[in-house]
Amino acid sequence: MTDSITIALSKGRILDETLPLLAEAGIELVDDIKKSRKLVFPTTDPSVRVLIIRATDVPTYVQYGGADLGVTGKDVLMEHGGDGLYEPLDLNISRCRLMTAGPKDKPAPAGRIRVATKFVNLARRYYSAQGRQADIIKLYGAMELAPILNLADEIVDIVDTGNTLKANGLEARDLIEHISSRLVVNRASMKMKHERINPIIEKMSVAVEKRRES
Ligand code: ATP
Ligand code: PRP
Repeated sequence: MTDSITIALSKGRILDETLPLLAEAGIELVDDIKKSRKLVFPTTDPSVRVLIIRATDVPTYVQYGGADLGVTGKDVLMEHGGDGLYEPLDLNISRCRLMTAGPKDKPAPAGRIRVATKFVNLARRYYSAQGRQADIIKLYGAMELAPILNLADEIVDIVDTGNTLKANGLEARDLIEHISSRLVVNRASMKMKHERINPIIEKMSVAVEKRRES
């Protein structure tokens, strides 16, 4: 069906905040997602289905047209690069900061610096723009461990309350970007299915504004 719509949502912390915004656009999941092992879910709109996947996979599914729309963090989009994606709406949810951080009272060396992160592309671009030479070390989680075990001088990671850094003897250094979750759209779908997609964007936008005012 040419006017059917597939939406890729990030499982985990973004999902709970995304569902009420989608509901305002008339799209609600039929199943109890917490109890299901399914990855594709029907919705109250028979022409709309929802995929629930890892946040880091959302841009890839949307870029290649596996999904028409997606919701993921700006950090993930910056790391992906945004190829083939249109980013029409800041959902203002899952807000946090992308920062550099390092051991308290141990400034980074003046010359070449070792940086551990899961955001390798983004970190490479950031240090290069700062004119700093950096060896980027890819990790998949628990970045805070790397400076403790002298694997790296600094990390690039998400900071919200700062509790994780503090608990591990680290301190936030430079702000790279304020982060929130974004609605992304496949560029081809935006052209071919604009009559279906525009009302979804508009209704979600109204829901975001309502939430901002309350
Ligand atoms: P995966 O499970 O795929 O490795 P993840 O563990 O990063 O991904 P989440 O922890 O659910 O998945 O984070 C998803 C998104 O939520 C991040 O990309 C970021 O935009 C945002 N986020 C991450 N940590 C926080 C936080 N502590 N507070 C607020 N938002 C956060
Ligand atoms: C995220 C992020 C930081 C932490 C920051 O981790 O990777 O470790 O939150 O939040 P804070 O500043 O409030 O402490 P998360 O809890 O999602 O765990 P994970 O990504 O390692 O699974």
